[in-house]
Amino acid sequence: MTDAWGPLGALAGEWEGEGGLDTAFSHSQNKVLGTPYREKATLKPFGPVDNGAQHLYGLDYKSAMWRGDEENPFHTEVGYWLWDAATGEVMRGFVVPRGITVLAGGTATGDATKFTLKAALGGEQYAIGEGRYLAQNATTLSYEVTIVTGADTWSYDETTMLRMKELDQLLPHTDHNSLRRVG
Ligand code: HEM
Repeated sequence: MTDAWGPLGALAGEWEGEGGLDTAFSHSQNKVLGTPYREKATLKPFGPVDNGAQHLYGLDYKSAMWRGDEENPFHTEVGYWLWDAATGEVMRGFVVPRGITVLAGGTATGDATKFTLKAALGGEQYAIGEGRYLAQNATTLSYEVTIVTGADTWSYDETTMLRMKELDQLLPHTDHNSLRRVG
């Protein structure tokens, strides 16, 4: 990958990881539960995308997570990672098919191997959108992810703060995994 993709260059490719761990409120078990998961992700480079004077380079991505040997993933995402070399802005826009969209953002240097992106419900730039049901029953207040990249590996650690109807306190819905290059 050329420098045009900045810190995102290290993420391009096909990836798998078996050591994921999710913490969420499980409706079937009526309690907060840790769920180990395996994951596959594909991130494909594109660019530039020109917004007037702004030139973005990005990766379009798909990821899916499974419990054990289950055939259907229990979580999926599609979206874009974007890099603006002129300002050091990194963005990740994605959809979770529960009726949630996220545009998270932050800044990094072109050679960064660790960076953090954030979004908030009602955020001015970096915001979360959700459907009516979730707004009433399980609203997402904030999202934060830290990415660490290495040689043919990368990992993420993310916290989605939820206000769930079933719980008195806010729930940090957390996910982390380490992915290795398979293509
Ligand atoms: C690796 C990433 C993720 C995994 C594996 C994951 C997995 C899960 C699981 C297992 C549940 C519990 C479902 C149930 O048993 O009732 C859940 C709930 C939920 N997740 Fe995630 N999640 C991830 C990321 C996210 C993100 C990034 C967001 C939002 C920005 C999000 C928003 C929610 C919401 C709002 C619920 C509650 C749905 C409801 O109770 O009706 N999740 N997630």
